[in-house]
Amino acid sequence: MPKRVRTAVFPVAGLGTRFLPATKAMPKEMLTVVDRPLIQYAVDEAREAGIEHFVFVTGRNKGVIEDHFDRQYELEHTLEIRGKSQALRELQKDLPSAGQSSFTRQQEPLGLGHAVWCARELVGDQPFALLLPDMVFKARPGVLKQMMQAYEETGGNIVGVEEVDPKDVSSYGIVARGAGPDHGFRITGMVEKPKPADAPSNLFISGRYILQPEIFNLLSEQTRGAGNEIQLTDAMQVLIKSQDFTGVKYEGKVFDCGSKLGFLTANVVFALDRPDLADAFRNEMVKLGLFERERDREPA
Ligand code: G1P
Repeated sequence: MPKRVRTAVFPVAGLGTRFLPATKAMPKEMLTVVDRPLIQYAVDEAREAGIEHFVFVTGRNKGVIEDHFDRQYELEHTLEIRGKSQALRELQKDLPSAGQSSFTRQQEPLGLGHAVWCARELVGDQPFALLLPDMVFKARPGVLKQMMQAYEETGGNIVGVEEVDPKDVSSYGIVARGAGPDHGFRITGMVEKPKPADAPSNLFISGRYILQPEIFNLLSEQTRGAGNEIQLTDAMQVLIKSQDFTGVKYEGKVFDCGSKLGFLTANVVFALDRPDLADAFRNEMVKLGLFERERDREPA
């Protein structure tokens, strides 16, 4: 039995320059898909997968993330006296329990690899999950839970992947696929943001990982890579020489909410999946001529 994964790391120090001016005074991880902040989706996914310790690598101007995962007594009291017990229960259910969250700061924006390295003392000598909160998934069960199932069989390091349009490979980390089925195949190599001609496949690393603690030593030695940043993918490409990496092409779909297009698409898709909103939202879109009425649609 591989050692249990209890801890998850959430890198939330990014400056969010692609969403200015929205992110000038507010962390991008607090942008909402419908009514839940991006970071809440990642924390929910981690809890569903059995995570008990939530490590946030923050930066300046990110204090509101810590507040978001704290009790808000004034608000709770007001909801209580107004009899809004359902809303109150929902709020309380979103929180990790007391003592389960830890916060540390990445003092300089040196890249994802450096952000992960900043969590080394809080994670210690144990395997951990890593969730990039920009990436929001429609998947059931959640993507990390699907990856945990693969981890229980194989141990080692696990990377969640999805297919991407070959012209977009240079925005992501790309894996080389070896033998094995979609729910657990051998990864034979990884490259960060390759040119389309150099990409070993169209399977991209979509922001969910289970990693062994040996990655931290490699990250401390890692020189700058793509974009002049310390890249996690480069350290994984070193670790693969001594440890197994398994790819999981999970059931589900990612929305890259670090891009405006992905973020807007996620808002529409998630709204259409909400029983309390879907019909009304669709009707508004039909009235605006943006969606077809259901009965006018061509049969598929
Ligand atoms: C990071 C990783 C990359 C991964 C991507 C997913 O890139 O370095 O391998 O594919 O996240 O979002 P970034 O988005 O920080 O440029």
